[in-house]
Amino acid sequence: MRKPIIAGNWKMHKTPMEAAEFTKEFAQMVSQTEGVEIVLCPPFTDLHTVINTAHGTNIVVGAQNVYWEDQGAFTGEVSAPMLKEIGCKYVIIGHSERRQYFGETDETVNKKVNAVLQHGMTPIICVGETLEERDAGSTEQVVSTQTKAALEGLSSEVVAELIIAYEPIWAIGTGKTASAEDAQNVIAHIRSVVKEIAGGSADSIRIQYGGSVKPNNAAELMSQPDIDGALVGGASLKPDSFAGIVKESAAG
Ligand code: PGA
Repeated sequence: MRKPIIAGNWKMHKTPMEAAEFTKEFAQMVSQTEGVEIVLCPPFTDLHTVINTAHGTNIVVGAQNVYWEDQGAFTGEVSAPMLKEIGCKYVIIGHSERRQYFGETDETVNKKVNAVLQHGMTPIICVGETLEERDAGSTEQVVSTQTKAALEGLSSEVVAELIIAYEPIWAIGTGKTASAEDAQNVIAHIRSVVKEIAGGSADSIRIQYGGSVKPNNAAELMSQPDIDGALVGGASLKPDSFAGIVKESAAG
């Protein structure tokens, strides 16, 4: 049985004070919720505050990015040992915004995945197609290439523990969600690609859907057999809407 995992990707939102306030309020709302893993992924500058505020609750914390070297002359970057020591459990890797605006490629995604694993954290690996790619009928091929590249060189034991987030780019922040059936089909395809690479580990790996997930569409998405959670952007910025999604997912 795969435990659903709901992660809030705050992107570049909230100062440390706003983050602390959110976390206190949100933690109360979900304190009785079981059967779902709850993750907050704030900006780097909020990590310390959110980790401290979430201490002793059922919320764990992840970062939104990492650099693959442990240390060195890489101005502005943050390394995996730094994130591990501060208390991060997860790191989002290869979000489409990072691929689009910050030059991330399948190759750098693979390097970052390795760095995160080496330091005992779990990557949340993002894959997904653009609208043109979808219209051209190449969704399966695009997510398959991204998935294979991200997992290149990993053992099947390690693959079993990873998280993949399927996020169709045209559904991110647009209010357009993939239909539950479409999301299920692509995610089942991703699972079949993982099966080719890592055999039985494909049954353990958790695959999230992301792209305009809201409290009112979460339950239907989560009821699909291959969808094991959500990566939530906009709707994770308000305690009540994010708590709503968490609760809907636990109920499913
Ligand atoms: P959204 O973002 O929920 O605002 O569409 C999802 C994401 O980018 O992870």
